[in-house]
Amino acid sequence: MKCLVTGGAGYIGSHVCKALKAAGHEPIVFDNLSNGRASAVKWGPLVVGDILDDEALDAVFREHQLEGVIHLAGLIEVRASIQQPEQYYEVNIGGTLELAKAMVRHGVRSLVFSSSAAVYGHPEMTPIREDHPKSPVSPYGHTKWMAEQILSDMARAHDLSVMSLRYFNAAGADLDGEIGEAHSPETHLIPLAILTALQKRPKFTINGDGSILRDFIHVKDLADAHVKALEWTMKNNGSAAVNLGTGQGCSVQEILDEVVRLTQADFPMERGPGSPLDPPVLVADSSLAKEMLGWIPAHSDLTTILETAWKWHRQ
Ligand SMILES: NC(=O)c1ccc[n+]([C@@H]2O[C@H](COP(=O)([O-])OP(=O)(O)OC[C@H]3O[C@@H](n4cnc5c(N)ncnc54)[C@H](O)[C@@H]3O)[C@@H](O)[C@H]2O)c1
Repeated sequence: MKCLVTGGAGYIGSHVCKALKAAGHEPIVFDNLSNGRASAVKWGPLVVGDILDDEALDAVFREHQLEGVIHLAGLIEVRASIQQPEQYYEVNIGGTLELAKAMVRHGVRSLVFSSSAAVYGHPEMTPIREDHPKSPVSPYGHTKWMAEQILSDMARAHDLSVMSLRYFNAAGADLDGEIGEAHSPETHLIPLAILTALQKRPKFTINGDGSILRDFIHVKDLADAHVKALEWTMKNNGSAAVNLGTGQGCSVQEILDEVVRLTQADFPMERGPGSPLDPPVLVADSSLAKEMLGWIPAHSDLTTILETAWKWHRQ
């Protein structure tokens, strides 16, 4: 199956392309390279374009006989979204809408969308199930929840099939070391810790006391879930949303201790203030993904996550 992968030059998107290719599908990457890298596009063609540009979208839909779309392109920083909400609404909502309209124009009905645990805000109960109240605390989280609702309305009106994947904390790198996590600027815990261990950053700042718990999911497990979700959309109608996490919480301090142990590095650390944006616990109940997609994380133990990330960053 030929599948358009928006944001396929980015961290998660490049792993999704590798997984699609391994499953016998053909990924066509559509990315404006604002935060992705052409060198991460290795498993199919790269079309440089913007999801806000309907003519560029029309051109790629016309040129390739697409059967499905995996939509990862977007702006990803919670804190930046508070500074510049208009940019986040424009790209994450406007871009998603343009893409969905292009799918309708070109008769492509299968869509997998990158959503986020940020749709839940501060959870009232944990592990979090999909029917937990949605109460995002940032413009970023709002864009993900609004986009899910827009896509679900469009699925109903235009006979699309949409699966939204609510990722918890994506982490780790390709098991073969071909691709890895390189956001710019980098704000994610594990790459920041590793870059500090490699002396590419002067010190690591822990915001708060290090006790907050997050659910880290290996990017290879995430990528495999996209292939299964795409195949689900080919066989089913309507829209659905599933969590992708492990169900296990891991503290920031635990991650840092493991990075120090693994890298044996001198590791300058300082304490900074905690943020009201950070809920104390964010852990997924992923039983619905298991039930609907037959998806079970296979590489998301902390050792595999940290060893693959460390190996990739050292190259
Ligand atoms: N990394 C995580 O832990 C995490 C968690 C939850 C959800 N997500 C979501 O997953 C998706 C991918 O995240 P990532 O970590 O791989 O980020 P990333 O920044 O590495 O990838 C996003 C890609 O989108 C591209 N892009 C941005 N704006 C674009 C536009 N207007 N037109 C075309 N391309 C554009 C960028 O160039 C980049 O390659 C995002 O939608 C993000 O919100 C990520």
